[in-house]
Amino acid sequence: MTKRVRKAVLPVAGLGTRVLPGAKTTPKNLLNVVDRPILSYVVEEARAAGIEHFVFIVGRGQGAIEDYFDANPEVEGALEAKGKADILAEVRKDLAKPGEMSFVRQMAPLGLGHAVWCARHIVGDEPFAVMLPDMLMAAEPPALAQAIAAHEKTGGNIVVVEPAPEGEAHKYGIVALEGQEGRLNRMTGMVEKPAPGTEPSNLFISGRYILRPEIFDLLERQGKGAGGEIQLTDAMAELMKVQDFHALEYEGTTYDCGDKIGLLRANVAFALRRPDLADAARSAIEALL
Ligand code: G1P
Repeated sequence: MTKRVRKAVLPVAGLGTRVLPGAKTTPKNLLNVVDRPILSYVVEEARAAGIEHFVFIVGRGQGAIEDYFDANPEVEGALEAKGKADILAEVRKDLAKPGEMSFVRQMAPLGLGHAVWCARHIVGDEPFAVMLPDMLMAAEPPALAQAIAAHEKTGGNIVVVEPAPEGEAHKYGIVALEGQEGRLNRMTGMVEKPAPGTEPSNLFISGRYILRPEIFDLLERQGKGAGGEIQLTDAMAELMKVQDFHALEYEGTTYDCGDKIGLLRANVAFALRRPDLADAARSAIEALL
């Protein structure tokens, strides 16, 4: 019987280079999709999957992330005074429950592997989730719940993957599979940002992982990899020598909100999914075409 996945690590310290200048003063994961920040959707996905504790790995100047999940008596008081109960409920939905969130400073941008390693003391000795929050996943059941179900089935490490757009596999972490049958398949390898033409498959690591805690010892020793950064993919490839890894092709749609067009697509798609906005959104979009 494996331990339940209770904690999620969310590395949010990235600069958001592809969505600058907007991400200069607003951390990229606080940029809005319709009327909520990207992070709000990701936290909702995690809570729906049973996550009880969030570990945000933040950089300097990202205090707004902590503030977002904290009470704001001025805003809440004003909404209360004006009788705007519906907006108040939306604002309060995202507040952290007492003790539910930890914030760890990553003092230098040394890579995703280093960011995850920064969570080791808070995660401790239990399997945990990693969520790359700029990858917004619309799915039912939620993407992380699908990953946790796969972990409960195999007892091992799970990496959520999906087909890369034509010609773009070299921009991501790419997995190699033992065989491909159904959505959950044993992995035989993975490589971070393979040179074009050398990709072992077209399936890229898309931003949800369930990892066993032994990854932390490997991350501690992990040298620099692609882009001169300490890569999570390299430590996972090392752990795969002694532990089971499965790739899960989840059922749903991913929006890469760290990218201009991805963020635009997410805004359009999420507005069209909202019963209160769908009609108005559709007319507004059609009028632009
Ligand atoms: C990171 C991971 C990579 C993954 C990608 C998904 O890369 O290292 O394996 O495919 O996220 O967005 P980054 O986008 O930080 O270069």
